[in-house]
Amino acid sequence: MADAMDPPAFEGVVYQIYPRSFLDTSGDGIGDLAGISAKLDHLVWLGVDALWLSPIYRSPMADFGYDVADHTDVDPVFGTLADADALIAAAHERDLQVWLDYVPNHTSDQHPWFQASRSSRDDPKRDWYVWRDPAPDGGPPNNWRAAFAEAPAWTYDEATDQYYLHQFLPEQPDVNWANPQLREAMLDVLRFWKDRGIDGFRADVVHLIGKDPAYPDDPPEVAGVGRAGHHHLPEATAPHLRAIRETLELPPAAVMVGEINLPDAAQVATYVGEDLLHLAFQFSLIYSPWRAGYWRDIVGYVQREFDAVGAWPTWVLGNHDNSRVASRVGRAGAARAAMVGLVTLRGVPFLYAGDELGLEDAVIPPDRVVDPGGRDGERAPIPWDGSERHGWAGEPWLPWPPVPEIRNAAAQRADEGSMLHLTRRVLALRRAESSLRTGEQEVIDVADDVLAFRRTDDSGTHLVLINFLDEPTDAEVTGDWRIVLASDGAGEGGSYTGRLSPDQAVVLVTANG
Ligand code: GLC
Repeated sequence: MADAMDPPAFEGVVYQIYPRSFLDTSGDGIGDLAGISAKLDHLVWLGVDALWLSPIYRSPMADFGYDVADHTDVDPVFGTLADADALIAAAHERDLQVWLDYVPNHTSDQHPWFQASRSSRDDPKRDWYVWRDPAPDGGPPNNWRAAFAEAPAWTYDEATDQYYLHQFLPEQPDVNWANPQLREAMLDVLRFWKDRGIDGFRADVVHLIGKDPAYPDDPPEVAGVGRAGHHHLPEATAPHLRAIRETLELPPAAVMVGEINLPDAAQVATYVGEDLLHLAFQFSLIYSPWRAGYWRDIVGYVQREFDAVGAWPTWVLGNHDNSRVASRVGRAGAARAAMVGLVTLRGVPFLYAGDELGLEDAVIPPDRVVDPGGRDGERAPIPWDGSERHGWAGEPWLPWPPVPEIRNAAAQRADEGSMLHLTRRVLALRRAESSLRTGEQEVIDVADDVLAFRRTDDSGTHLVLINFLDEPTDAEVTGDWRIVLASDGAGEGGSYTGRLSPDQAVVLVTANG
């Protein structure tokens, strides 16, 4: 087990790009790799360290790329392998890492592996997926429900008279990591992309890859809830994570963050460690109301549980699966304060593209709904400028988020008071101050509606205060402190008075420091 004081596997800030929605250069209304390459200088200006791209593999797009039909090719809507190589090279020239989404739990039903597997019970790849006989009544082998659909997690395949497992869409059959050839083939995917220069991976629902060979029914209290997250068995997954880790460590080495989509950070932490995952998402803040008490409890709990296993936590406020943070918290000022919290908490921050502009979810008219999981709103296109199509070559595949004429990158770059500039400034502060990157963290009690924490290392201490109310709040702290950064810009450079303005987050240093 790693020591709690060990340096983190990754010290930087990861920026998640949803490629379909980032920038279209080809004119088909779907973002592409060339669009990402075109914005690298902007991302360097912003100050992030790594880009994580949601899936770019060849895919029929039943789940917008999380249904992979070829792990070693780029889908034509995004470009070509040569475009991927060019993007990786251009990012590396700018000291930006590139991380890829890795989808180990399932493939597309169009993947040649599955096509072979379903072709006959005797096919050598039959066991690469999870096939089971019907229950005695002819129904599915157990009571598991698939995510997104109010339907069983098993689909009957007439040709071979068996059911196959899919914890997500029927177009996303689960693979069988217990089969050594499948496992090797999945590890080959990592090797392929590492050799192309990929620096890290985000592993999609990786806690689901180790299956309970008994495939037991869900207990009655969760049966039919339709969440794939229930079928996780850490002891079955751990050996696969060790094989993944070994593959990642071989030169050229790469890191991995696992999407361990479980509600309890203590469960998440069990998947991280010296020979397991480098990092794992924990989504507690996404699921939390914008209330100081909740955030205080979460920050303390996550710190305790991750320290207990010697692991470095992560923080996430937004992604392509959840309503945007600006929509959740409701006030632009609160979204700004949340950004300061995300970047200064102890752990690896993951910033979802567009959150630095304060984007809210798009309103999707019923006839424009395309995602079976109801996640179109947070996947709306990024507006780059104030022109008619906001910098996009074609009319985008989803409607714009609200007020794109103001909330666009060009307008906010021109406005020093913008959310974009705030994000840039807090990222720069984190980069400059080792205490904010790797220092210890202590949550302190200051006021009911304020989250307060200290970040300390040999170089000194920073104190972060976040007011969760849209009214001024007293938040006295002992000692003399100076404001180095304020989410609303108010009072920067001056002494801290003991009072926070509405929705204000501040980063303080000792006045004589
Ligand atoms: C993860 C992804 C989500 C996808 C699902 C199935 O939760 O983040 O977008 O639909 O896995 O791959």
